[in-house]
Amino acid sequence: MDDPVVCLEFFSGIGGLHYGFEQSGIPGTVAMAFDMNENANTVYEHNFGLRPNNRAIDYLETADIDKYSANCWLLSPPCQPYTRGGKYLDDEDDRARGLIHLIEMLPKLRNVPRYVFLENVMNFENSQSRTRLVETLGTLGFEVNECLVSPVQMGVPNNRLRYFLIAQRRWAADDVENAARTTKYLARGADAVHKDWPFGPAVKSIDAVCAIPLSSYIDASLDAVESLRVPQSAILKRQRLEFDIVRASSAQTSTFTKSYGSRNLIGSGSLLQTRNLDVVENGFGAPERLLDLGIRFFSPKEVALLHHFPYRAADSPVADGRHYLGFPASLTQRQQLQLLGNSLNVKVVAELIRHILFA
Ligand SMILES: C[S@@+](CC[C@H](N)C(=O)[O-])C[C@H]1O[C@@H](n2cnc3c(N)ncnc32)[C@H](O)[C@@H]1O
Repeated sequence: MDDPVVCLEFFSGIGGLHYGFEQSGIPGTVAMAFDMNENANTVYEHNFGLRPNNRAIDYLETADIDKYSANCWLLSPPCQPYTRGGKYLDDEDDRARGLIHLIEMLPKLRNVPRYVFLENVMNFENSQSRTRLVETLGTLGFEVNECLVSPVQMGVPNNRLRYFLIAQRRWAADDVENAARTTKYLARGADAVHKDWPFGPAVKSIDAVCAIPLSSYIDASLDAVESLRVPQSAILKRQRLEFDIVRASSAQTSTFTKSYGSRNLIGSGSLLQTRNLDVVENGFGAPERLLDLGIRFFSPKEVALLHHFPYRAADSPVADGRHYLGFPASLTQRQQLQLLGNSLNVKVVAELIRHILFA
């Protein structure tokens, strides 16, 4: 690495990629962040002292980007275009426009970045958006690496299988080999995506032993907090579905989504059992059996820790030169969980940045 790393963070949310970059230990800065969600921007500013640009990324011009002389792009665009919920509309989905716009802008920039790091959901590797991104990067002389990684592969008791693209410019934009190299790479389709790399095979079973115990992420003093209790009425409404309930002794939790903490209890993330711990029950067909088990949501602090954010409840966001994650008092618990559900695992990002992007 010759020049200092200057990053731009697109679709910045609460700054998961910024924390990941910082935790990687690579010296550098994030010069600007971009996101149109005002709640996310308030949290970002609270912690980093930098107010992200709230203009829709679809409307940024080359000058808006070139002016930062950045050499590293960090991106985590919306995942809905690549999910069943979003009808797999891919690059036809309005929510993919920001990413497509950035891809189209890349060759026109005066300051084409040297490093690109992108996070998205599994299935992005099958999308037209990914083909367009890889094609553009390849043509500009980037070497591309792609992988699917879950934090459980790194001993974190939270499953969050995600797609990562890690690209570094290795050849000149006018290198005659770029086009042929890219065509060959794209011909491999999704096979080019590493499945057990670079952190080893995923731990698939919920009973598998994880290196860091779930109990170490749990704050038992929160068991009594009323706002974290799952409402009985929401439990009783679900008659024919299995609840995902874990205990502090469990090996894993499932992915926390942006619906976590709402009345949408199925598929949005694990619930925590705090009483009668000898009873193991998923409520299928008889949700009333769950009512004595002290079922609660994981708190924003616990989800943040499972995502390996450097969480800090205190008000002062900066201590010992690092940035911590705290939430301004203006955000409700549900809003905090929503933002965390949209975010990512900081430890996975840090390791990929350290070991792959800047290796
Ligand atoms: C998957 S989330 C990324 C979260 C982020 N990595 C974090 O750690 O919180 C996608 C983010 O993109 C933002 N977003 C979506 N479309 C956008 C657009 N066209 N312009 C700007 N921001 C956009 C959303 O507000 C959301 O915060």
